[in-house]
Amino acid sequence: MIKQAIIPLAGLGTRLLPLTSVFAKELLPINGKPGLEYIINECIDAGIKQIIFIISKRKMMIKKYFYKDKFYKDLIKKKKDPRIIQEYQKILKYRKMIKFVYQNKPKGTGDAVLKTKKYIKDKYFLMLLPDDLIIKKNCSKSMIQSHKKFKSSVMASMSVNKNTVARWGIYKLNKKLNITDYSIKGVIEKPKIKEAPSNKAVIGRYILPKKIFSKLKNLKPGKGGEIHITDAIQLLINDNEKFIAHNFTGKYLDCGTMDGYINSSKEIAKL
Ligand code: G1P
Repeated sequence: MIKQAIIPLAGLGTRLLPLTSVFAKELLPINGKPGLEYIINECIDAGIKQIIFIISKRKMMIKKYFYKDKFYKDLIKKKKDPRIIQEYQKILKYRKMIKFVYQNKPKGTGDAVLKTKKYIKDKYFLMLLPDDLIIKKNCSKSMIQSHKKFKSSVMASMSVNKNTVARWGIYKLNKKLNITDYSIKGVIEKPKIKEAPSNKAVIGRYILPKKIFSKLKNLKPGKGGEIHITDAIQLLINDNEKFIAHNFTGKYLDCGTMDGYINSSKEIAKL
């Protein structure tokens, strides 16, 4: 059973400036709801019981969002508005599941994952990157099914235009296992077109083994000077750890860029 999820939230969101100069990108509304709530709901619906948020001092706004008790209680007393009561109850429900850890220097996704080491209890855990929304079908849920079937680590995968491979982690595929799953031989972070082993990209959903912490501990910064989870995954694959690329069937929305962010509200409004 996968019961814990982690969400790296310490990123600065420079691609969404100026919206992110004073605001956490993960709280920006997408069709009237903070993007982060879509991610939390995906977790809950997939059976996750605890979510670890990796924030930073600069992103305290995220913690405050879940701890504004006095504000809500005063309002509810005065107004008795059922909508506000419902929203507050939702926040209380989320809060019970969330634990906060800190990554005060933006050293990359691998470093963010390492901050959760003490709190991960089971052999496997889920990670969701909050810039990547997947709608119409719960990607985490179907990845958990593949994980149960193949007893291995799983990452979300999508075909991308060859010209854009340098934006993604790219898979080196091994064998097709069924309609949606491939075993993989490797994964390379943001390769040049010439170096890309395929056009299948890593999308921000990962079922990772606890073992990954031993690789992350000694990992040196890679592309762009950041510590990449992709590089730790490659080290595990080199040790014969089984990883699967799961071609999800939902629709991917890239909320980390301005165009993508604007488009995501439009797509969700159509649902
Ligand atoms: C991260 C990962 C990359 C993956 C991408 C998916 O990159 O490092 O391997 O393909 O998320 O969104 P980032 O978006 O942080 O540049």
